[in-house]
Amino acid sequence: MSMIAAFVLFATLAAAQSCSPAATPVIGVTVPVASPTNAVPLSQNLLGFSIESDRWPDWIGIDSPNTFWINTLENLNKLAGKPPKIRVGANSEDKTTFVSSQSVPVIATFPAFSSTTPYPEATNITIGPSFYTLSKWLPVGTHMTWGMNFGANNTANAVAEAKSIVAAFKSPEVTNKGIKLDFIELGNEPDLYKNNGLRPSTWTIHNMVSEWIAIADEVTTALGLKKGASPSWIALSFAGSDHGAGGFSPQQAFADGILTSTAGALISTISEHRYSGSFCAGSQGLLSDLMAKSAVRGNLTVFKPDIQATRSRGLAYYLGETNSYACHGAPGVSNTAGAAIWLIDYTLQAASLNIEEVYYHHGIGFKYNFMQPVALNRSITTGEPENTPARVQPTYYGAILIAEAVGTSGTTSIAEISINDSRIAGYAIYEGTKLVRAVFINSQSWPSGSTGARPAVKIDLLCLGTPVTTATVKRLKITHSDDTANLTWGGQSFETSTGLASGAVVTEHVNPVDGFVLSATEAVLLKFT
Ligand SMILES: *[C@@H]1O[C@H](CO)[C@@H](O)[C@H](O)[C@H]1NC(C)=O
Ligand SMILES: *[C@@H]1O[C@H](CO)[C@@H](O)[C@H](O)[C@H]1NC(C)=O
Ligand SMILES: *[C@@H]1O[C@H](CO)[C@@H](O)[C@H](O)[C@H]1NC(C)=O
Ligand SMILES: *[C@@H]1O[C@H](CO)[C@@H](O)[C@H](O)[C@H]1NC(C)=O
Ligand SMILES: *[C@@H]1O[C@H](CO)[C@@H](O)[C@H](O)[C@H]1NC(C)=O
Ligand SMILES: *[C@@H]1O[C@H](CO)[C@@H](O)[C@H](O)[C@H]1NC(C)=O
Repeated sequence: MSMIAAFVLFATLAAAQSCSPAATPVIGVTVPVASPTNAVPLSQNLLGFSIESDRWPDWIGIDSPNTFWINTLENLNKLAGKPPKIRVGANSEDKTTFVSSQSVPVIATFPAFSSTTPYPEATNITIGPSFYTLSKWLPVGTHMTWGMNFGANNTANAVAEAKSIVAAFKSPEVTNKGIKLDFIELGNEPDLYKNNGLRPSTWTIHNMVSEWIAIADEVTTALGLKKGASPSWIALSFAGSDHGAGGFSPQQAFADGILTSTAGALISTISEHRYSGSFCAGSQGLLSDLMAKSAVRGNLTVFKPDIQATRSRGLAYYLGETNSYACHGAPGVSNTAGAAIWLIDYTLQAASLNIEEVYYHHGIGFKYNFMQPVALNRSITTGEPENTPARVQPTYYGAILIAEAVGTSGTTSIAEISINDSRIAGYAIYEGTKLVRAVFINSQSWPSGSTGARPAVKIDLLCLGTPVTTATVKRLKITHSDDTANLTWGGQSFETSTGLASGAVVTEHVNPVDGFVLSATEAVLLKFT
């Protein structure tokens, strides 16, 4: 790369370089002004939502749309130019029986709640045809994935579900709004079936592939699905702990011939799941560990062989379900402002690894939600009585920053900026070949109770004949990493009764030569002009 086609970004802390003020310790970082060879396409649908289906009607609304949730989706739609994609299913998909005569959308049985799990998932779910038709309340142009039951190993039930899903997406109320069914999914995390009682403990990937083919082939034939038409299959949805031969991995599923079956020939996308830790047993973990730059990379780079194996077969690769900590999130971690910082780095890191789409899992009352779409009457962290209205949580601001960084053009690509610092991460975003935006993240945690001056890093965009002369900076402002409210994005709050922004937009103009300060637990979006 020529020096003309690059500028150098100076952060603090290392040896002086000739073009920096003598006293300023710097790390020099090269940011190509033209897209580098490691830039990868950035999807307008990078950030999507996975919804636990037992309480789908609470999310979407029954007789009318849930305008709070729809508003939060429309905010993202405006910024990224496409509404977020929605997957509905997850654990619940393997507990669902389709009853064609059932008039209400869903009848679900819930166990008692506890302080560890204030909002447990249903144990048994029956649905009728109107369940899928509720998709009509989504924003115009939304694309969906629907999950079906593989856990029950019942072909007739899966075929009945599939027929009802496809019928819903042929109804005028859905088609008139351009709401499309991209994918059907058979089974959630089948690699865990041998542990959760849905299959014998001896069950292998080979058994899984043959049983998946047996049911998915029947569904494919019953629906008359065709290659190249929608819906196609999204497959595997593994919890994602195996990455090679013999395990529940995409590589072994391919070796076992899944792609050569009738249904398998219609697999267009491979999906795996990831959580960075778990709160299943109620032990919580540290927010600073979640946020750590090294942990974000460690949790995602494990998928590199899977991504490579998938993409080499011409298939897309998604994280079809993810979030911070499994079993609905950890209190004081998943529901905090620090988790917003985590998700910005995590989502953009995934994108730069060629993971096209990342679906954040949500359920009513789950701690790690970006939004609670309905009023709740117990605390999401303790289960104690507490009345809260429908509201956004801190991570929602991370989603907003991502959507604005992605932008509406549809021609964007992304590359991570190499920054030799354990807390500062950066990503450059291009339209065509031109550098248009950059995101910088300071993942050092600044929790409440911290004393002294808040740590900060000065980042200078300097030197070497850069053509970039001005930039605007928009900040995600956080008081403390463990805050559960009161964030602002470019001066605006989304903590409103409607989920729509309030307040005036605040941006700063910087001369790149002068640089800008990035505090611990802060992220910024730079737009170059
Ligand atoms: C779930 O509900 C259905 C319909 O009511 C019933 O037939 C089935 O036995 C129930 N399953 C479990 C595991 O309770
Ligand atoms: C699943 O169903 C198929 C077809 O009925 C059967 O061959 C297979 O043994 C079943 N799997 C288990 C684990 O029972
Ligand atoms: C994933 O993130 C967690 C922190 O949330 C960290 O403890 C763990 O080491 C990370 N895993 C890997 C493989 O890096
Ligand atoms: C909490 O709300 C649920 C419905 O969402 C209702 O069934 C329950 O009675 C309410 N509990 C209290 C204590 O108000
Ligand atoms: C990264 O920084 C460390 C110390 O801060 C230094 O020892 C190392 O040489 C640097 N690596 C590169 C590639 O610049
Ligand atoms: C948010 O700010 C308001 C007003 O300053 C304050 O009353 C409230 O306690 C804050 N909430 C949290 C969770 O920090």
